[in-house]
Amino acid sequence: MSKKLYIETLGCAMNERDSAHIIAELEEKEHYSLTQNPKEADLILINTCSVREKPEKKLFSEIGQYAKIKKENAKIGVCGCTASHLGDLILKKTKSVDFVLGARNVSKITQIIHEKRVAWVDIDYDESAYVFSPNPHSPLKGMINISIGCDKKCTYCIVPHTRGNEISIPADLILEEARRMVENGTKEILLLGQNVNNYGKYFSHSHRAINFTQLLNEISQINGLERIRFTSPHPLHMDDDFIIEVAQNPKICKAIHMPLQSGSSAILQKMRRGYSKEWFLNRVEKMRSLIPNLSIGTDIIVGFPTESEEDFLDTLDVLEKVRFDTLYSFIYSTRPHTQAQKWLEVDRSVELVEEQIAKERLLRLKDRHKEILTEDNLKQIGRVHKILFESFDATHSLLEGRSDTNKLVRVKAESGLVGEICEVRISQVKGAQLLGELIS
Ligand code: SAH
Ligand code: SF4
Ligand code: F3S
Repeated sequence: MSKKLYIETLGCAMNERDSAHIIAELEEKEHYSLTQNPKEADLILINTCSVREKPEKKLFSEIGQYAKIKKENAKIGVCGCTASHLGDLILKKTKSVDFVLGARNVSKITQIIHEKRVAWVDIDYDESAYVFSPNPHSPLKGMINISIGCDKKCTYCIVPHTRGNEISIPADLILEEARRMVENGTKEILLLGQNVNNYGKYFSHSHRAINFTQLLNEISQINGLERIRFTSPHPLHMDDDFIIEVAQNPKICKAIHMPLQSGSSAILQKMRRGYSKEWFLNRVEKMRSLIPNLSIGTDIIVGFPTESEEDFLDTLDVLEKVRFDTLYSFIYSTRPHTQAQKWLEVDRSVELVEEQIAKERLLRLKDRHKEILTEDNLKQIGRVHKILFESFDATHSLLEGRSDTNKLVRVKAESGLVGEICEVRISQVKGAQLLGELIS
């Protein structure tokens, strides 16, 4: 009988991808099969995130919950960014954890499950050329890591500390994986990295010269692949060549994530983002001039230390000008091993923005964004989109899929179309949801 694996994945797409690797490795090499029920699992894994303080704090109560309900000999492992960050401390703080595996040591999963009370969190470990077991489930949408780590030092961010220095994965490995996925039915590929468009800067072994734009172009030549998406690109590296490739290559989806973080040039400088408000708006303008219906998503932090009302108004101004299609917004959270934490807690050269003010700014930002979305979604009525159908709800006869611009669209129809790309005319808007009709 196969052993059962339960895995909980927190955090970003990078962690989702790591979980997919872990599952594939354990299925192929250790004969595990997935379960959705932690009570019947032989191995419980928590793939953690530490980008903000709150989810990290919840980790220990979660471990306690799993320890209470697990089978007698079941093991508990902690993986991901909090594992990298806290390492041994997790073992010291709780007896029920069997092992801790850092976000940069994913390929060691089949070894560590046989160990007792160890923490493997080597931040210099290089698994950029490791070939993981293939995912046998051939999903319509596949994810491929193109780089590991991050070479930036944004002053608020813990990620360089949890994922280490940036290394690009060899292009041939990426292309091979993409081809294999497409042969198994994948139609859309999401390329992943903390700074995808810095691809090609650092390899661990000698490699032909290649940048992100060229990689996109090479991947797009795979027959049978319909769509390419990527996350996250850094606004600083969005050069003209990249924008022209996105505009002209029909396989590259016309939806770009452009993490702004702040609209104030002064705050951007303190965040060490490397660009100004003007640069960001200039890149948006260039893209919009070449790609008329481009959808743009973003991440914004409010309440970064020293952020004034004027700084925040600059953020609202960028929102007004760009009218982002998706917005992930957060209140600044102080993280260890960051420059901003040093300013706040060691040098005491800056102060936190009052919680009440930060909360109010977050609300203003979200409210205005909701209004913009409602206004812009109404403009969708009558437009025709190509939808890749991903699922079918038989009870309501509803097909669901995404446009090239990453809008979620539902259509009343039969199930036979899952996996197909069809033209749909948008007929109705319900909140953020678009409803449409198939064009026969
Ligand atoms: N590499 C990506 C970001 C990954 S972290 C990029 O540069 O865009 C995902 C998001 O979490 C960030 O874009 C940022 O908005 C948010 N974030 C990171 N550190 C944070 C902190 N200390 N407090 C609040 N939000 C934070
Ligand atoms: Fe963090 Fe900045 Fe790297 Fe993104 S680019 S992961 S925000 S340090
Ligand atoms: Fe992702 Fe969270 Fe790590 S956002 S990179 S899982 S800290």
